[in-house]
Amino acid sequence: MALVEERGNVESTPRSRILGTGSYAPSRVVSNVDLESIVDTSDGWIATRTGIRRRRFAADGETTSDLAAAASRRALTAAGLNVADLDLIIVGTVTPDQPTPSCATALQRKLGASDIPAFDIAAACAGFVYGLTIADQFIATGKARCVLVVGVELLSRAVNWSDRTTCVLFGDGAGAVVLGPSSMACPDDVEGGATPGILATQIFTDGSLADALCIPAGGARRPATLAVIEAAENKVHMDGQDVFRTAVKQLTASSAQVMKAAGLVSRDIDWVVPHQANMRIIAQVSQRLGYPLERFVLNLEEYGNTSSASIPIALDEAVRDGRVRRGQRILMCALGAGISWGAAVVRL
Ligand code: ACO
Repeated sequence: MALVEERGNVESTPRSRILGTGSYAPSRVVSNVDLESIVDTSDGWIATRTGIRRRRFAADGETTSDLAAAASRRALTAAGLNVADLDLIIVGTVTPDQPTPSCATALQRKLGASDIPAFDIAAACAGFVYGLTIADQFIATGKARCVLVVGVELLSRAVNWSDRTTCVLFGDGAGAVVLGPSSMACPDDVEGGATPGILATQIFTDGSLADALCIPAGGARRPATLAVIEAAENKVHMDGQDVFRTAVKQLTASSAQVMKAAGLVSRDIDWVVPHQANMRIIAQVSQRLGYPLERFVLNLEEYGNTSSASIPIALDEAVRDGRVRRGQRILMCALGAGISWGAAVVRL
């Protein structure tokens, strides 16, 4: 099922905008060479097949909501806002602190936010694009003014450390943005520039592909018995090649569709911030879109695949190092378990 958000002459009618970005990566760096002592793998295999060289792992005792809180505080500071300015918290994660209540609940508590609504979205690697889409709707309808959208994962505790085909891919981290109405000013706005805002979003799910990437047990269908845990069925399982093919196809298609919905073509885009899963996936999307790889914001070499956190971490880094600037148009696209995917075009 697809949800396509088209707005006609969107350039003149954006409804919400990114006011500030923030991210947090745990300090423990784990290199490909470090993994050679855990599973039968090599730095050469991982780097060549994926582009990943290092990833970050949370410290013992550090939780998903801790990562989210650190990224959120940085995003609030960048936006020049306080926790009290928030009306809503949305967290994209498939690795919450605990099954219930939500990670957003724990985040709200850690931030010291008042009794504003807070909820999680389980759209895996597409969680951040889903979160942006939902937050934009809340702001458009006037239900919320300022919304915190977070992508956060602690995947080092969700992978099977005996399965070399998956455990080498993932890392831990968090990224956040604060959204507000397009009419709201930011200190670093470009004078006389076009109205900033979310120009178009697209989100999709094909549940018939659910088995290609999943945590098969540990939920209500098959609770976490001793046998389930011994067989690591409560950990990530993936058909890598299936996911790879679907990712190339759908990331390309949704990126093209979202640009069309925004009335744009690829030369109008200043940067693509893709989900950071695999360099070969990104290279193929770049080729199919006819959009140069040099204009993709890439950091998977440093962080691996941080699922819903990967886009907001990459966006925040590019904002802070000056690559991505106010007034520019940014395309984001992501795909993950579900299979769920989506894309968004934003004028920063
Ligand atoms: N180290 C060494 N060898 C390995 C490893 C490893 N970590 N993992 C697999 N191999 C071996 C396999 O056993 C196989 O050996 P064989 O030929 O003797 O049987 C060989 O390498 C090739 O395996 P393939 O699965 O064919 O390797 P492929 O080139 O497809 O790469 C990969 C695997 C990296 C997982 C790729 O399919 C991929 O990136 N898929 C996308 C999945 C993804 O990124 N998922 C993340 C979530 S979804 C998303 O974010 C898009």
